[in-house]
Amino acid sequence: MATIEVENISKNYGKIEALKNVSLTVEQGAVLGMLGPNGAGKTTLVKILSSLIKPTAGRASVAGFDVVNETRQVRSNIGLAGQSAAVDENLTGRENLYLVARLYHLDKDTSRRRAGELLEQFNLVESGDRAVKTYSGGMRRRLDLGASLVAEPPVLFLDEPTTGLDPRSRNELWDVIRSLVQGGTTVLLTTQYLEEADQLADSISVIDQGSLIAQGTASELKQRAGSEFISVQSQELDQVSKTVGVMRRFSTEEPTVTQHDRRVTVSVTDGSALLASVVRELDAEGVAVTDLSMRQPTLDDVFLALTGRTAVESETDGSEDGAADD
Ligand SMILES: Nc1ncnc2c1ncn2[C@@H]1O[C@H](COP(=O)(O)OP(=O)(O)OP(=O)(O)O)[C@@H](O)[C@H]1O
Ligand SMILES: [Mg+2]
Repeated sequence: MATIEVENISKNYGKIEALKNVSLTVEQGAVLGMLGPNGAGKTTLVKILSSLIKPTAGRASVAGFDVVNETRQVRSNIGLAGQSAAVDENLTGRENLYLVARLYHLDKDTSRRRAGELLEQFNLVESGDRAVKTYSGGMRRRLDLGASLVAEPPVLFLDEPTTGLDPRSRNELWDVIRSLVQGGTTVLLTTQYLEEADQLADSISVIDQGSLIAQGTASELKQRAGSEFISVQSQELDQVSKTVGVMRRFSTEEPTVTQHDRRVTVSVTDGSALLASVVRELDAEGVAVTDLSMRQPTLDDVFLALTGRTAVESETDGSEDGAADD
């Protein structure tokens, strides 16, 4: 049996269909990335799997336990780092961790030891004895993740673990999550960033307006989005047509060359392998380049390819869930 099994789950809030017939499985030790824009239904699924709310229809089990009928067993097998931090601002990091450990019925000595271990693991030793209200966003996220791991759960739910973090804190958190995965934890993480799913997940499920619309590895999804983009800006406007000519040679399908002013962009399948040749051929044609860049497809590109609209457009009006950290 898979560690997480979701079968035809639907969830309605009044007239809003937050989830529509969602099915998926996550094998033990695997990481599933649930990728979708605001309001797609990510948090709703995480809450159902954490046994915090009940589905309208369908069934799901976590670590072999039913999320509706065996909530106690489900909760003792999971850690949850939610979208809004669940820590007490006025306590220190160490006190917060100690408190959570006591809530899990660890004895005082074990709780103290566990709090110390987690501060170390999450790089919070120096700030561990300061009130959480003095922490940066990245430190809070790390503490929150630490709190979800107090009881060393075999299954971990991470709801948008790095949203709002700067690139450096994001990278640090990714390292922490990777090391957890190496230890064998089964993870379901939600994210709005293709790159995050790419960095962390074995497989990705794309969710839109309550339905799963695609599943695959990051590279499979990227291929559907037209892979990567190489973009060149030439020094002179009259070199643009030459640039377009060169870039066409690298484009795999069409129409994949676009042009705005002096900037020409081409969609390619293996950008890093082609970059050097692009430079060489532009040089051979005498094109002076002022800017050259390569970028990975974003969630928006994947979305556009899958649905014909961008992720931002797909947000439904008037259905804000009022999350405190939005
Ligand atoms: N308690 C609730 N009552 C009514 N509607 C809700 C409730 N919770 C969520 N919804 C609605 O269900 C839909 C899915 O919400 P959900 O929070 O699961 O999305 P999400 O993918 O987590 O979005 P985000 O990326 O913004 O966190 C949205 O339309 C939301 O407004
Ligand atoms: Mg959410």
